[in-house]
Amino acid sequence: MTTEIKEEDIARLVPAFYERVRQDRVLGPIFNGAIDDWPHHLGKLQDFWSSVMLTSGRYKGQPMVAHVRHAEHMTDDNFAKWLALWREVSDELLSPAAATAFQQKADRIAESLQLGVQFYRER
Ligand code: HEM
Repeated sequence: MTTEIKEEDIARLVPAFYERVRQDRVLGPIFNGAIDDWPHHLGKLQDFWSSVMLTSGRYKGQPMVAHVRHAEHMTDDNFAKWLALWREVSDELLSPAAATAFQQKADRIAESLQLGVQFYRER
């Protein structure tokens, strides 16, 4: 059975997740230091997840470049914390099947971001 994901799920999940991130002792200062325009960032992230989960093609950015710019913060511990918060908020807000779909995608994207940042760092 395929899980039905709606734009509405993304519109609830993304702002709630970043709300939680901003309150986190470790991740909060990283994001609050890097992002000035939160409404713009949240819009971009909703476009990103809409492209990833619904293949809407709305996101036009380069996530790898964005994270290489902040390479010093892309540690194993920070990725683990990011993914743990993502799991927590998606479990709270979405149906179990939808939450699992978002979590599996995030796991895979995190893995490739982590590999990519490592690669750029070692060049
Ligand atoms: C952007 C931090 C993991 C998706 C950003 C920015 C920061 C950041 C600081 C803003 C970049 C800027 O505008 O200068 C982190 C940290 C992570 C993490 C500390 C974990 C250690 C992830 C993961 C995903 C993700 C796992 C996806 C599943 C994005 C996207 C953007 C972004 C789509 C917008 C890129 C753009 O400007 O087009 N992140 N991130 N991030 N992040 Fe992350």
